[in-house]
Amino acid sequence: MAKLSIRDLDLKDKVVFMRVDFNVPLNDAGEITDDTRIKASLPSILYALRNDAKLILASHLGRPKGKPNPKMSLQPVTVRLAQLLNRPVSFARDCVGPELERNAAELKPGGVLLLENLRFHKEEEGNDPDFARQLAAPANVYINDAFGSAHRAHASTEGITHYVPVRAAGLLMEKELEYLGKALQNPLHPYVAIVGGAKVSDKIKFLQNLMGFADTVLIGGAMAYTFLKAQGLDVGQSRYEPDKLDLAREVLQLAKQKNVKFKLPQDHVVAAKLDASAQGEIVNSSSIPADRLGVDIGPATTAEYVAEIRQARMIIWNGPMGVFEMDQFSKGTMEIARAVAASDAVSIVGGGDSVAAVHKAGVADNITHISTGGGASLEFLSGLKLPGVEALPEKP
Ligand code: 3PG
Repeated sequence: MAKLSIRDLDLKDKVVFMRVDFNVPLNDAGEITDDTRIKASLPSILYALRNDAKLILASHLGRPKGKPNPKMSLQPVTVRLAQLLNRPVSFARDCVGPELERNAAELKPGGVLLLENLRFHKEEEGNDPDFARQLAAPANVYINDAFGSAHRAHASTEGITHYVPVRAAGLLMEKELEYLGKALQNPLHPYVAIVGGAKVSDKIKFLQNLMGFADTVLIGGAMAYTFLKAQGLDVGQSRYEPDKLDLAREVLQLAKQKNVKFKLPQDHVVAAKLDASAQGEIVNSSSIPADRLGVDIGPATTAEYVAEIRQARMIIWNGPMGVFEMDQFSKGTMEIARAVAASDAVSIVGGGDSVAAVHKAGVADNITHISTGGGASLEFLSGLKLPGVEALPEKP
C-alpha cells in the first residue's frame, strides 16, 4: 500500500510543517561540505511553495545530545537553501516556543521558515508528547520527507503525527519507499546483493533478510574476515569480530539452506598498516601473512564479482569492499562501483560509505537509486518497520 502523498493534499494558505533530513556534513569553518540531502528535499519544498503553502522546515543536524551547540546549528543550511531556492529563507533560533509562534504567524503563502536543530532539545529524541505537541502547534499539515531519519521514533518523525490531523509523505520519502520497496517486494532475478563494511553484526538482519530473495550475495570489506575466520582461515591482522564467528557460521548455513550463492573474497590486497604510505600486496585467502591486514578485495575476487554483477537484473549495494578512502586500497570498491553503474540492472545503493564510493568513482548518475538514508535504508531492507513511515497514513 502506498502512503498518502503531499500531492494528495490541498496546501493553499496552510501552515505546512515539513520534516526534512538536513543532517549534512559541516567543516570546522561551519561550511556545508556536501549538500546532497538539501537538494534531495527540493522537489517537496518547491511543490509546497508552488502550491502556496506557508512552509516550516525542521531537521536535526548531528548528535548534540539534547543541548544547544553552535557547531551543529542549522543556520548555514538557511543560507544554502536560500541560494538553491533563489528566495529568502527565514531562520527560527528555536524550534518551539513564542518566537516560533510569532514567526509562523507572520509566514505568507510561499514563505519559508527553517527551524533550529530539533535535537537541541532532549525531548526530540525522547519523543516527548508535550514537545511533539509544541512542534505541531502552528501546523495545519505535516509532511515527512526525511527518509534518512524515518528509522528514528522521535518527536518530529513519530510523536508529532498524533497532533496534526492532516499528514502525508513528501516526494523524496515517496521515491525512497518506491525504489527500496521494489527491492523487497518485486525482486528481479538474477538478484545480486553486494554487502561490505566493517561488521557482520551491523548487517546481520539485512543478510538474513536477503536470503529470502537474493540469488547471489557478494561479501567484501572487513566483515569478510569474520566469515573467513569462521571457516577456519587465518586472517592475520585483519579486523574481524571474534565474538561473531558463530553468527557468521549461521549466516553461511542459512545461505546453503536457501540455495543462495554466498561469495567470500578468494584474494585480497593486504598491507602492514593503514596509512597513506602503506603499500598493498596481493595474497590468496589461504595465505594471508600473520603480520598483514586485509584492506581491499583482490583482482581475482573483483573479476568474479564483476561477472556476477554483469548478469544481474537487480542489484543492492551496501558497504564498501575495502578502505576505499585511501587511493591505493580503493581499486576493488571503484571497480565494483563502475560495474554496478555499467549494468542494465535496477541498481540501488544505500549506506554513507557506498554512496561516497559511487561519487568517488564518478558514476552516481548511472545508478538507478541512491538512497539518502544510511541507517534507514539498511533497516528498511532488513525488513524492519520504520516508525516515521508507519506513522503516515495509507492512501485511501
Ligand atoms: C543519518 O545521517 O543517517 C540520519 O540523518 C539519522 O541520523 P542519526 O543516526 O544521528 O539518527
